[in-house]
Amino acid sequence: AVLAGCGGNWFTAGSGTGSQGALLASRVPLPEPYRIPLPVPPNLTPTNGTIELTARRAAVEILPGRTTEILGYDGVFPGPTIRARSGEGLRLQLRNDTAIDTVLHLHGGRTPAEHDGYPTDFVTPRAERTYSYPLRQRAAPLWYHDHAMDFTGPNVYAGLAGMAIIGSDEEEALGLPSGDRDVPLVIVDRSFDGDGAFAYPLADPARTRPGVTMRYHGGVLGDCVLVNGAPWPVLEVDAARYRFRILNASNARRFDLRLDHGVRFTQVGTDGGLLERPVARDAIAMAAAERADVVIDFSSVPVGTGVTMTNGLDDGGPGQVMRFQVARKVASDDTRVPDELSLIEELDETAVDVTRDLHFGLGAHGGGHHGGTDWNVNGVTFRDGDLFTAELGTLERWRLSSDVHHPVHAHLVGFQVEAPGGAGLAWKDTIDLRPGGSAQVLVPIEGYAGRYVLHCHNLEHEDMMMMVNFSVV
Ligand code: C2O
Ligand code: CU
Repeated sequence: AVLAGCGGNWFTAGSGTGSQGALLASRVPLPEPYRIPLPVPPNLTPTNGTIELTARRAAVEILPGRTTEILGYDGVFPGPTIRARSGEGLRLQLRNDTAIDTVLHLHGGRTPAEHDGYPTDFVTPRAERTYSYPLRQRAAPLWYHDHAMDFTGPNVYAGLAGMAIIGSDEEEALGLPSGDRDVPLVIVDRSFDGDGAFAYPLADPARTRPGVTMRYHGGVLGDCVLVNGAPWPVLEVDAARYRFRILNASNARRFDLRLDHGVRFTQVGTDGGLLERPVARDAIAMAAAERADVVIDFSSVPVGTGVTMTNGLDDGGPGQVMRFQVARKVASDDTRVPDELSLIEELDETAVDVTRDLHFGLGAHGGGHHGGTDWNVNGVTFRDGDLFTAELGTLERWRLSSDVHHPVHAHLVGFQVEAPGGAGLAWKDTIDLRPGGSAQVLVPIEGYAGRYVLHCHNLEHEDMMMMVNFSVV
C-alpha cells in the first residue's frame, strides 16, 4: 500500500471527532436554505496564453437585502474559474487594487519557485505581477488563492480564492458531462456581523497581528455555508448526469458531503486529477483545500424532487449545504462514465531514496523557539530556514503524523495514494491528518529547483506558523 494510516485513510468518511475551531455565530438572521439560485463564477480562458486578474474590493449581495464587502479577484467571490490546458503555459497578470499586500498561489500547480507565490513575495497595493505557469502536469481541478505571510486566513476569508480547472484532450475524450453540466462548487463557511459584513476575529488584517487570533487556535468556523458565494443555494438540474468539481475553500471547516433520495456520488477524480476507475460513494469527506471531482446522475430521480446535499459531520456546525432541484426530463443524455478513466503508474516503494518523519504539532511538543504557543512541523516554523532539502529525480516517503486534525499541503509535489473503494491509485496535494493519526505517502520530487513551503491548510494554523520551508535542488 502506498498509504497506510493508523488514523484512517484520507478518504475515510466522518471521523466523528469534529473540528476544534471556534464557531462564530452570525449576528444577522440567515436565509432559509435552498431558495437562492446557485451562482456560477464566470469562466476565464486565456487569450494568447494570458489571463488578467485584478484583486479588488467590492460590495456584493450575499444575504438578501444586505451588502457584504469582499476582497475578490475581479471583484467577485469566488473568483472567476480559470480554464486552462495541461501542457500549455499560462501567464497570469495580477493587478492589486486592494489596500493590502497580497500573494497569489496556484494550489496544486507544478510551478517554478519564483512564480509559485512564496508567502513573502508580495504584490503591494497598486502593483502588478505576472505569474507564469508551465502546467506540465495532469488535467486536474486546481484553485488559486491569496498566500500572504501571516494573513492568508483573513485574506481568503474576505474572498480571495477561485478555481482553476486544467483540462486535457485525453480527459475530454472520455465523454464525461461537460458544458453547462460541468459545474464548479466552491464550498465555504462564513459568519456575518450585524451589518452583513463577513465576521472574522481580525477587524483589519492590515493592522492586527496574528497573535490576536490565539483564541481561534483551532481555526475560524462560520455558521453559514456558501456555495459559489450564495448561502445554501439551489441548482435546477435536468434529469441527467452532471459533473461537479467540488472544492472546500473554507479556512478550517471539514465537510462530510452526503446526498438524499438514494442518490450517490460517483467520484471520478481528486486534487491531482482523474482516478484510475470511478467509485460510487455515499459520503465524501473534505478538509480545507481538498477537491473532489464527482458525477451525480439525476436521470432516475422523479421530476420535482429536491436532492439535498448535506454535511454529515456532527461537530455543531451547519448541516445544510445545497440542493439540486430536478426540474425537467431530457430526451437523451449521451454522456458516460467509462470504467477506465486514466492510467496512473504505480510508484515503486522499494525505490524510495529518503524517508522523512513529519510531525504536525504544537510548540510545547515540538520544542520550537516560540514559547510553546506556535503550531509547527517537527518543532520548526517558517522563520527557521529549510526543514529539509530534496533532490530532483528522487522518490521520497513521507510519514506524516499529528495530534489533532491538520490538512497537510505541500507546494510543487504531489502525493501518490490509494483511491477509495478499490478505484486504483490517486494523486493528492492535500492529506487530512486525523487526530492522533498518521499517513504515509510517496512523493516524487519533480519539477523545479527552488524554495517551497509545506504547511497545514487550516489557514489559521498556517498563519500561526504551521508552515515550513523546503528546498528542492
Ligand atoms: Cu492552498 Cu500553500 O496553499
Ligand atoms: Cu492544522
